[in-house]
Amino acid sequence: MQKLNIFAPLAYFHGGSINGYNAQTAPIFMPNTVGGYMPGPRDYPGNTSQPNSSKTIIAALEHGYVVVSAGLRGRTIIEDSKYVGKAPAFIVDMKAAIRFIRHNSELLPGNVDRIITNGTSAGGATSALTGTSGNEPFFDKYLQELGAADESDAIFAASCYCPIHNLEHADSAYEWQFNGINDWSKLNYGTGKIETGKLNDEQIVLSKELKHQFIDYLNSLQLQDNNNQKLSLDDNGQGSFLNYVKNFIIQSAQKALDSNQTVDSNSGVIIENDVVKDINWSKYLSFITRMKSTPAFDDLKMDNPEPNLFGTEKIDSQHFTKFAQEHSKVPSKLADQKLVQAINPLQYLDNKDSAKYWRIRHGASDRDTSFAIPIILATSLKNTGHKVDFAMPWDTPHSGDYDLRDLFTWIDKVCA
Ligand code: DHB
Repeated sequence: MQKLNIFAPLAYFHGGSINGYNAQTAPIFMPNTVGGYMPGPRDYPGNTSQPNSSKTIIAALEHGYVVVSAGLRGRTIIEDSKYVGKAPAFIVDMKAAIRFIRHNSELLPGNVDRIITNGTSAGGATSALTGTSGNEPFFDKYLQELGAADESDAIFAASCYCPIHNLEHADSAYEWQFNGINDWSKLNYGTGKIETGKLNDEQIVLSKELKHQFIDYLNSLQLQDNNNQKLSLDDNGQGSFLNYVKNFIIQSAQKALDSNQTVDSNSGVIIENDVVKDINWSKYLSFITRMKSTPAFDDLKMDNPEPNLFGTEKIDSQHFTKFAQEHSKVPSKLADQKLVQAINPLQYLDNKDSAKYWRIRHGASDRDTSFAIPIILATSLKNTGHKVDFAMPWDTPHSGDYDLRDLFTWIDKVCA
């Protein structure tokens, strides 16, 4: 798994240039194939097995980027009867790959001062964590154990699609959003069938408790909007932060209207003369529907990807929130809370070696995590002086790489 592929446009082997870039100046684009915190093997153009980002790699090469595809360990890998891919393996491998590229920069094409990571979902979280955690000492011992090069692992920019991150606050954020909606439905990737269910009485009680946890968390962040106004929530979960979240959806619907996309009449979006005036929030949430039961990530039977990410060499899954550990339905341990925090990109907002440029996309109909989660990331990055391009494309589910042309335009602009 810990191998990487390096690709350069053919022209660069002959002293040529593409799109104004050459073998020395081309940005180094690093898409990962991580999904569900599973192993994300190195990838190549034309790969037809899953997971793959073959189309993205081809498009990036055609556009003149050098592409580095690094294999990253994931939560299911077993070696010598030990689990070797639990957190923080994915980020350690990513950092080792970046250090390798830097260490060999004289031999390799591409500009190591213009490394841009890219990923979707757990891969988007990987990209975000790579972006904020450049050279953070927490990872030193893991990188030394691996024999990683003694180099900087900082990057220039991060592209993140629907990053499933901030896991220790994701359960409460989900209930802040979906509390009151008790029906859930999700696609089972194994069977290809849609599974449905209803929160039971206990889950309805837990949902309310988690919702209130989120209100305290959000208020503790002291986030500000673009006009330096404080974003907060009252005891009912309403307030300036909710309006701020709604506004991103309103902007998304307006953009859809302006480009002649249809905005579903059942979506709760209130339109007058082609102008989006408001959004009926509960109607919008009923329209997109709840996907996960309660708790959404640290589930009480530890069947989800996330408790499995926080296992150890010997233990397959552990709870990672005190809340789930206290309410657990199975024999369980609580993961090291320092480790849980260490893989949260928000842990490193004041890191001087964090990526300066950010492009974050989260579909307006994505229900894999609360809208609050990517919005908190984008806003706290902005509030700490990073350059952030954030949007929530209309009618877009949990997915990524759907707007590569725009992504590459953004990369060209920030690299100029
Ligand atoms: C992914 C999706 C999830 O809903 C989740 O909880 C973790 C990871 C993913 O697609 O990577």
